[in-house]
Amino acid sequence: MAVALVILAAGKGTRMQSDLPKVLHQIAGAPMLVHAMRSGTSLEPEKTIVVAGHGADKVEASARAHDPDVTVALQTEQLGTGHAVAQAKDALSGFVGEVIVLYGDTPFIREETLAKMVEARSHSDVVVLGFEAADPMRYGRLITEGDDLKRIVEFKDATDEERRVTLCNSGVMCAKSDVMMDLVSSLENNNAAGEYYLTDIVGIAASKGLTSSVVRCAEAETLGVDSRTALARAEGIFQQSKRESLIEDGAKMSAAETVYFAFDTEVGRDAVIEPYVVFGPGVTVESGATIRAFSHLEGCHVARGAVVGPYARLRPGAELAEGAKVGNFTEIKNAQIGEGAKVNHLSYIGDAHLGADVNVGAGTITCNYDGVFKHKTTIGDRAFIGSNTMLVAPITVGADTLTASGSVITQNVPDDALAVGRARQENKPGFAKRLMDGLRAKKAKG
Ligand code: UD1
Repeated sequence: MAVALVILAAGKGTRMQSDLPKVLHQIAGAPMLVHAMRSGTSLEPEKTIVVAGHGADKVEASARAHDPDVTVALQTEQLGTGHAVAQAKDALSGFVGEVIVLYGDTPFIREETLAKMVEARSHSDVVVLGFEAADPMRYGRLITEGDDLKRIVEFKDATDEERRVTLCNSGVMCAKSDVMMDLVSSLENNNAAGEYYLTDIVGIAASKGLTSSVVRCAEAETLGVDSRTALARAEGIFQQSKRESLIEDGAKMSAAETVYFAFDTEVGRDAVIEPYVVFGPGVTVESGATIRAFSHLEGCHVARGAVVGPYARLRPGAELAEGAKVGNFTEIKNAQIGEGAKVNHLSYIGDAHLGADVNVGAGTITCNYDGVFKHKTTIGDRAFIGSNTMLVAPITVGADTLTASGSVITQNVPDDALAVGRARQENKPGFAKRLMDGLRAKKAKG
């Protein structure tokens, strides 16, 4: 079944108190808009159309970064949710299939729920996602007769009796593309808000002899974000559920409530995540790896049995092979750390390739940046890099080599060689004592 997603993202979000368009505020390292786009991924949408208005350039850039094939439809004036969907008309021309309308500020709709809605479309023309609200507040109310949905009434337009209905509208709807477009083109704005309500398509469908039904989901899925407070709450909810699902899948965490995940963090079975670890986007931790306390990881891959931290930082492009170790106060960026290799203390390894069983001594730095360009450091298998070695890239240090502590290595080192790149030590007998005696005598004179 071909599916198109139409994601409404034109609203200003005044209550966010921000210059950033509302849908670009992030939860777990991804804009809310991206969460909404991801909720439809498993339906393999043929088209994804984002309706943008406020901050359209930024919204488009963010949507495109996630999905280069996205289509952006402009809604220059925000005249209501129905008007917003109508702006997708051109983008949908020629598309035959189901249209699912989602909101860019409603990030937690589950893939399974959308699949249920598409399924329900086989026995009614319009499908609306509803939920039983603990406190229905200002949500639109779903007015049903048996299994049939007759109409949706916005709170502002509802009678007292209708306001007592607790089955509410999430905003997510599904209909065949031509039906959806036909219904939104019939909308009028003669209501309390003077807006073209998408919700009115249900009543219009009934007047045209079409049927509507409700698929229900948990209220938590429909959580919409329209303020900083709601955003903070949504972050908390996401984190809690991500922690639970990773633990359920076999990760070990002794203080899960202190660990922060990104929307796409993957953690294998029997991996250990110690307290106060923060994951940015794009991290995979394989089975049996250990991420020790107070580490920060983003855009990296940690293979089986590798150990990271405590207090380590893995930046984008860090690739740790099996059994590699990256210890305290060490930063790794765009670098492969070979099988069993160790970078245990106070080092910076950037734009580098370290072979298997390399040992990097404390305080070693790959000097990868000349102020204009970045350069690569390559270190062969089993090399032993002495403490406080400066590796001035571009540089290749061969296999089974040694560098002397404190060396500044500016020339390639052949396999099996010892490289010494520092001033030779000279001892001057009695010099220290003489110097200090002189200074003390000077001080005593005043
Ligand atoms: C809407 C529903 C209401 C439902 C509630 C659930 C209508 C008329 N009402 O109300 O029944 O219970 O959602 O949260 O649909 N948007 C645009 N362009 C516009 C107007 C809105 O893109 O012209 C976008 C907004 O950016 C937002 C979404 O649509 O992402 C929802 O709009 P909003 O005005 O917040 O609808 P509600 O009043 O919450």
